[in-house]
Amino acid sequence: MVVSVNNLQKHYGKVHALDGVSLQVEPGTLFGLLGQNGAGKTTLIKILLGLVAPTAGSANLLGEPVGRPLNRLEVGYLPEDHRLPEYHTGPSLLEFYGALQGLTRPERKARIPYLLEILGLKGREKLRIRGYSKGMKQRLGLAQALLHRPKVLFLDEPTDGVDPVGRKEIRELLLEEKRQGVTVFVNSHLLGEVEQLCDRVAILRKGTLVLQGTVAELTQSKPTWLVAFDGPVPENLPWNLDKLEQSECQGLLRLFLDSAAPEAIDQFLSKASSHGLRLRHLQRERGSLEDLYLSLADRGGPAV
Ligand SMILES: Nc1ncnc2c1ncn2[C@@H]1O[C@H](COP(=O)(O)OP(=O)(O)O)[C@@H](O)[C@H]1O
Ligand SMILES: [Mg+2]
Repeated sequence: MVVSVNNLQKHYGKVHALDGVSLQVEPGTLFGLLGQNGAGKTTLIKILLGLVAPTAGSANLLGEPVGRPLNRLEVGYLPEDHRLPEYHTGPSLLEFYGALQGLTRPERKARIPYLLEILGLKGREKLRIRGYSKGMKQRLGLAQALLHRPKVLFLDEPTDGVDPVGRKEIRELLLEEKRQGVTVFVNSHLLGEVEQLCDRVAILRKGTLVLQGTVAELTQSKPTWLVAFDGPVPENLPWNLDKLEQSECQGLLRLFLDSAAPEAIDQFLSKASSHGLRLRHLQRERGSLEDLYLSLADRGGPAV
C-alpha cells in the first residue's frame, strides 16, 4: 500500500479535524479525497507528510510509519494556497527547486521545458510569477511537485482557481502520471472534477469518512431510470413501492425503484404492463457523485 491509515485522529482542542479515519491507497491509483471546506482533508495530507502529528491512530506512507524521516524525493506535494517566490520566472523557479532536489543540469534541461509545455506555460518563460494568474501559479506549483519524478503525488485542491482549459490540462497530466505508475492523492471539494479523474474516492465529512469506493460503485449503487409512458402520466404508480417524479428533461419521469436488485426493472416493466401502462422510453440514469453527495446531506446527514 502506498497509503495506509488506521483509525486516525487529530484533535485541535475541541475541534476533531479527523475522528477515526481508515483508508488505504494502492500503488498506481488516482485517489480522490472529497469533502467540504473544514472536513479534514488538508489535515490528513499533512499527517501523511509528517507535517502534523496525529493525536491517535496510525498512518503509513510507502510502508513506513509517518513521522519518521521521509525520503522526500519519493513524494511530490502541491500545498493548498501555496506561495511561490514572486521574483522568479517559471523556468528560474524550476531550475532552483530542481537543483535543490538534486537533479543534474541535463535532467533539468530535459524536464523543465517538458513540464512547462505540458502545463501550458510555454511562451511565458520571461514572465515573473508576480504577473501570473491564479491558474498559472497553480500549474507552476504542479510542475514543482512533479519535477523530481516522485512515486507519490499529494495535491491539495490542485484545480482551485484554474479555468476550464487549465483544468483539462491538469487532468490529462495526472492521467499521464498515473500511466507511468505514479500514485496520485488529490484533495478536492470539486466533485465533478474528481469524478472525471479518480479511480477511487473517499468522502470525508467533519473528520469522518462517510463513503469510499470506486466512482462506478458509488454512483451506481442506487440506479434510477428515466421513463415515459404513452398517454396520461400517472400521478402515482398504481402500486406502492416504486416512485416516479418529474425529471428536468421534458416529458420524462424519473423512476426510483424500490429495490437495487438487477431484476427490479423487469418487475417494474411487468407491473406497468399489467396495469395497462404503455412504456415509450426507458433509460438508465447514472447518478453523479454530486447527486450522491447531496443525497447524503438530504438524508438528515449534515452537508458532507
Ligand atoms: N492548526 C490548526 N489549529 C486549529 N484548528 C485547525 C488547524 N488546522 C485545521 N484546523 C481545523 O480542523 C478542521 C479541518 O481542517 P482542514 O483539514 O483544513 O479541512 P479541509 O482541508 O477539508 O478544508 C477545520 O475545522 C479547521 O478549522
Ligand atoms: Mg484543505
